[in-house]
Amino acid sequence: MTLRPLKVVAVCGSLQSPSKSLGLLDAIVDELGARLEIETTVISLTDLAPTLAGSFSRNVVDPRLEEALQEIESAELLVVVSPVYRAAFSGLFKHLFDLVNQRALEGTPVLLAATGGSERHSLILEHHLRPLFSFFQAVTLPLGVYGVESEFENYRVASPTLQERVERTVERAIPLILHLHPEASKALPTAAAQQG
Ligand SMILES: Cc1cc2nc3c(=O)[nH]c(=O)nc-3n(C[C@H](O)[C@H](O)[C@H](O)COP(=O)(O)O)c2cc1C
Repeated sequence: MTLRPLKVVAVCGSLQSPSKSLGLLDAIVDELGARLEIETTVISLTDLAPTLAGSFSRNVVDPRLEEALQEIESAELLVVVSPVYRAAFSGLFKHLFDLVNQRALEGTPVLLAATGGSERHSLILEHHLRPLFSFFQAVTLPLGVYGVESEFENYRVASPTLQERVERTVERAIPLILHLHPEASKALPTAAAQQG
């Protein structure tokens, strides 16, 4: 088996910049990178929002949006992080996935994450994000991560307990990801490297 990096596509659903959701996304991707060989593309809704809002059909999307859609469709692992807006993800986040080919994510592992102002909306993971990706017949990973505003400082993960939740979520995801993509294993250190 030839080892090669896993193609990770990480989608941030925030419409603000800077963004706590993007900070959570970075923490998740860093943790994945510590455990797997990955190459990561980050897709941010703030970059796509103006063109996305005016794109009603896949046949007439602008090239930048088409490129983002193709990235999502070719992901080997999708990481999605959305802020809670009015107890759900934003309409534009849903609209992005309305333009994704409905067969393209079959079997793709998806790590779900969200941020919100209140802990009471943490079920966005189970009530909104998981059903959306179940529709696509994607493989939503068993644990997701939810962070509240007070767990961030300067839009980065600051709370040790949120960091622990990120680590636990990724740790639980690794066996399933490696089952699907064994080629993404971190290479074992060679004897020469071990001798220093
Ligand atoms: C329009 C809007 C609606 C929001 N609605 C909720 C909500 O219903 N529940 C909640 O917990 N937080 C809500 N929030 C707070 C955001 O989810 C929270 O600040 C989030 O961390 C923002 O993420 P970002 O920094 O990535 O944009 C709302 C924020 C905005 C701007």
